[in-house]
Amino acid sequence: MSLKEVLIDELRDLYSAENQLVKSLPKSAKAISNPAMKASVKEHLEQTKGQVLRLREVFSHLGKKPTGQHCNGMEGCIKEVTEALEEDSEGALKDAGILGAALRVEHYEIAGYTAAIAIAKALKEKEIVALLTETLNEEKTAAKNVLSGAPAILKDALSQEDEEDDEDEEEEKKDPEEQESEKKSEDDEQEAAPEIEAASPAKKRKSRK
Ligand SMILES: [Fe+2]
Ligand SMILES: [Fe+2]
Repeated sequence: MSLKEVLIDELRDLYSAENQLVKSLPKSAKAISNPAMKASVKEHLEQTKGQVLRLREVFSHLGKKPTGQHCNGMEGCIKEVTEALEEDSEGALKDAGILGAALRVEHYEIAGYTAAIAIAKALKEKEIVALLTETLNEEKTAAKNVLSGAPAILKDALSQEDEEDDEDEEEEKKDPEEQESEKKSEDDEQEAAPEIEAASPAKKRKSRK
């Protein structure tokens, strides 16, 4: 495998990720209540369509087709967004739940473009570096917009909380998917436990003695 092929793999992954977002961002925009956040998601959707076209330009420069690889990572990120959208809450509380998932999406893209740019630079593909940098800057701005809108949303979420009856989370019935997620999170903890135990300060003190 050549470095150019590594770049093409990265770019195909990004192309799939952007196409997945074109499908999913309208659902987020629809579900978000905060007007500023809604507007910035809508704006970023339009940018995202442009990013798909920009990647097509990159591929035509390389003389390759853009499809060929489904981005599993973005599929996972979008799944987390969907979970936040389906959460049994409204208004600012729902928006607050979407913040983290939205930020993960943007940072996942930032990571992908940063890596692709580094590889394109190593290959001295100046034109490709320029195109990808344009998109990277849009992703960075999108992440910043999510963060800058957060304080207002969180403030509203706190006051909304006062108005709503506090439901006891423990008493809520979990659906099979939630049960599976809970079980998996416990497996995650158990599988990491020996390593965590070994790294814990108490253990380290013991082993130093
Ligand atoms: Fe994007
Ligand atoms: Fe993005």
